[in-house]
Amino acid sequence: MDKKQAKLRVEKLKVEINHHRYLYHVLDKPEISDSAWDSLKHELSELENKFPEFITPDSPTQRVGGKPLPFFKKVAHRAPMLSLEDVFTTEEFEAWLTRISKIVPTDKLDFFGELKVDGFAMSLTYKKSVLNIGATRGDGKTGEDVTENIKTIQSIPLKLREPKESEIKNIGLNADKVLKLISSGEIEIRGEVFMTKSVFESINKEQKKLGLAEYANPRNTAAGTVRQLDPSIVAKRKLDFLAYGLVTDLGQTEHNQEHLLLKLLGFKTDIEARELKNIKDVTNFWNEIHKKREKMAWEIDGLVISVNNNQIFSKLGVVGKAPRGAVAFKFPGIEATTKVLDIIIQVGRTGVLTPVAVLDEVDINGVNVTRATLHNEDEIKRLDIRMGDTVIVQRAGDVIPDVVSVLKNLRPKNSKEFKFPKKCPVCDGEVIRQEGEAAHKCINKKCSAKHREGLYHFVSKKAFNIVGLGPEIIDKLVDESLVKDSSDIFKLEPKHLLGLEGFAEVSAKKLVSSIQKSKKISLARFIYALGIIHVGEETANLLAVYFNSIENLTLTSEEDLKKVPGVGEKAAKSIKQWLEDKDNKELLKKLVKEIDIQSPPKISKKLAGKTFVLTGTLETLSRDSAKEKIRLMGGDISSSVSKETTYVVAGENAGSKFDKAGKLGVKIISEKEFLNLMD
Ligand code: IVH
Repeated sequence: MDKKQAKLRVEKLKVEINHHRYLYHVLDKPEISDSAWDSLKHELSELENKFPEFITPDSPTQRVGGKPLPFFKKVAHRAPMLSLEDVFTTEEFEAWLTRISKIVPTDKLDFFGELKVDGFAMSLTYKKSVLNIGATRGDGKTGEDVTENIKTIQSIPLKLREPKESEIKNIGLNADKVLKLISSGEIEIRGEVFMTKSVFESINKEQKKLGLAEYANPRNTAAGTVRQLDPSIVAKRKLDFLAYGLVTDLGQTEHNQEHLLLKLLGFKTDIEARELKNIKDVTNFWNEIHKKREKMAWEIDGLVISVNNNQIFSKLGVVGKAPRGAVAFKFPGIEATTKVLDIIIQVGRTGVLTPVAVLDEVDINGVNVTRATLHNEDEIKRLDIRMGDTVIVQRAGDVIPDVVSVLKNLRPKNSKEFKFPKKCPVCDGEVIRQEGEAAHKCINKKCSAKHREGLYHFVSKKAFNIVGLGPEIIDKLVDESLVKDSSDIFKLEPKHLLGLEGFAEVSAKKLVSSIQKSKKISLARFIYALGIIHVGEETANLLAVYFNSIENLTLTSEEDLKKVPGVGEKAAKSIKQWLEDKDNKELLKKLVKEIDIQSPPKISKKLAGKTFVLTGTLETLSRDSAKEKIRLMGGDISSSVSKETTYVVAGENAGSKFDKAGKLGVKIISEKEFLNLMD
């Protein structure tokens, strides 16, 4: 980017960031998430670092906070409520250390690390140990008096706890001084008001039930709640509070001590918080918490790392509106902003055309993202996404990244609306969109994209599970006309493969032997492998058990198919259609000649009526074999825990399903107990 372009981008970013700051901080009505906003700010601050001549006093990087809303009484803070500088990487953290080492010696410095709770800051003043004022941060100098509201928060003591003398001595403080100040002085503490994820979810469930709009996230719901003028509504919202700072001097010399003292005074404090001796400790702590992040009861957006020694902390002073002695070591957001380089269409096995945004590579929570799904035409229209747009992309867990929204103000001039293709981009075949369906489909039976995807599916893990035969090799085999349909796979010999790029004698033999091994296949897997629309793993199993052989299945009627428990009308119709197709009939004949289909053994009724959920890694069984065992005994399998679940089988590293089972009172059993059930 040259200087002229940088200047223009800086100007645009400033306007955009300021707009979202206003929506978020002043109106409490954000339109984009914190991490998306952070991403824009990060881009701006990087540009400003590169071109410092473009920094202006009104840049969002030069100031923090906004005006308080005029509804509550204003409160002037005794000491300003500051914010923190963000660092995102170990390098940025080290750069912070280098900067402070110019002011204080850092070789023997201890740190204190704690969770950065994603809520909002609150100052609580206690007079003669009784809660006097609860004030929001506001612009840092003046906040709003929300005392009546925060009194409804159960984790905020209305009267300070009076610690025992021994307790105070144990943490190295003068008991007389502390007790005297508690009982007759004024004490100000600071912390974070927040809403737990489960409270947030139950509020949204309720909203949904009432047909009202759902809230965006726990942080904004909590902020909105404290701004409620009616405390009785606040009380219902079950806010929470975590204390992290003691403003009043009670003789504490370390931040660590401050936390211990806050606990003695009756506040909830961070149980993960700890002293850290060096950078290694800091990064280990960061990694540990980052891993646990999703499972935590409330949202956190990073760690706060402070110089533990209060005297040194004070000596480091304040730069701008942030203390120099602490930083927010943030976690990557699950959202980031990036640019759309292209919009392409992918054709799947069933002919569905899926639009995909090709993105300027962006790191989201440690993963390089270059593509995001746009789902279908309606989604493209809803987003009004165009080439060249700056977009907010989200990547949560293992889910395929998707586009959350388009930042229209950053749209280049003359951009054009995306037009959904009327023909299949691969085979030029006819594309239709059936009534009531969101997807466009290529209906050309001979579409090469569909054909290839069908073959990928045929050899995949849950189908024939041919180890070593992935999409790349299939592509080569198809290109060389060695495989025209799936039955040709079984006719391959090492000599055919030898001509292909990447194959030598040993590898060719290996693949052929792996293909030969796959020939012995269960009826259920075989039906699944056919790739019939609406026939997934579960339906294939049901069909296999019901019909017991492929011949029986081919002879059946649509009416019979509907009688199979668990097979719906759509699936029945689709199966019949598939079986009646001339080419498919031909293919089935060929396949049956090549392979050895195993009919399912008669199932026992031992687990009939029982529903199982599997979670975590089992020691002796693979997921698939555990599932197979359950099915063979007549049990059902579900992917999520509900009141209808009979057992949750928990292996190593069991996750949220384990927690949910605990909450719902569903019986949790170990692998051993599970195997005993089968005996
Ligand atoms: S210490 C100098 N500790 O983060 C400011 N802040 O970006 C002292 N926050 O406004 C803040 N958890 O609302 C501190 N354990 C924690 C925190 C925390 C969340 C928030 C706080 C503050 C913002 C600073």
